[in-house]
Amino acid sequence: MNIEKLKLDPRMPKHIAFIIDGNGRWAKHRGQARSVGHKVGADNVKKQIELVRELGIKNLSLYCFSSENWKRPKKETDYLMTLFDQMIDEYRDKYIKENVKIIFSGDFNDERIPAIVREKAKKLMSDTADKTDFILNLCINYGGRQEILKAVNELINENVKIVDDKLFEKHLYTADMLPLDLVIRTSGEQRSSNFMPWQTTYSEWIYPKKCWPAYSKNDLIKSLKAYMKRNRRFGEIKE
Ligand code: IPE
Ligand code: IPE
Ligand code: MG
Repeated sequence: MNIEKLKLDPRMPKHIAFIIDGNGRWAKHRGQARSVGHKVGADNVKKQIELVRELGIKNLSLYCFSSENWKRPKKETDYLMTLFDQMIDEYRDKYIKENVKIIFSGDFNDERIPAIVREKAKKLMSDTADKTDFILNLCINYGGRQEILKAVNELINENVKIVDDKLFEKHLYTADMLPLDLVIRTSGEQRSSNFMPWQTTYSEWIYPKKCWPAYSKNDLIKSLKAYMKRNRRFGEIKE
């Protein structure tokens, strides 16, 4: 597939999200530990970010760890936190140099996240706050309902009397991002699992069967082509 041609297509999405799913099952099918799936999954995250950037898409959100994922065995959540720590170290210099803004969506005051990860994430966020080429949104300890409640509580604290869409969105983690056009959830599961209830009201959803570690460059291109064939009406009928 000619990436240059795809890039120029006006129907290309501007903001896409991956709900990274199926790491554990992918490893299990191969007779390996779930942690192997998470490691290969983290490597694939790096590859997919590069491909998304190469395609000229300007915003990417990645659902990496939900506020409900603490219900997993401690061994697994510990390992995932280690991977996030490594991810931050690996991304830091590269993305600062490449003018990429990195934001973390989720509760980073939660002490279940290791202090070092919380500190590094906050620092990376402030060090890239003025970057303009691309926005990478890492959703870690993220829950959509919690995000809405966070916004509501901030507005209450500001003594706001009336709220409209625009003001409300200023209090979401995605305040600086473009509208979310497309959500891709791998592994065949067809549900949101608490991912961005506000932002996805008119997003398109695609559910590739492949588990995340196996989701390739060609699979992303296929998902994008399927998205571009959709007719997004936003409730409107044109006479
Ligand atoms: C990875 O996939 C995403 C995370 C929630 C960290 P899973 O760990 O959910 O893998 P499956 O769905 O159990 O196969
Ligand atoms: C959703 O995946 C959360 C992330 C991808 C981070 P889960 O694997 O946790 O979701 P459920 O349990 O299948 O709904
Ligand atoms: Mg899962």
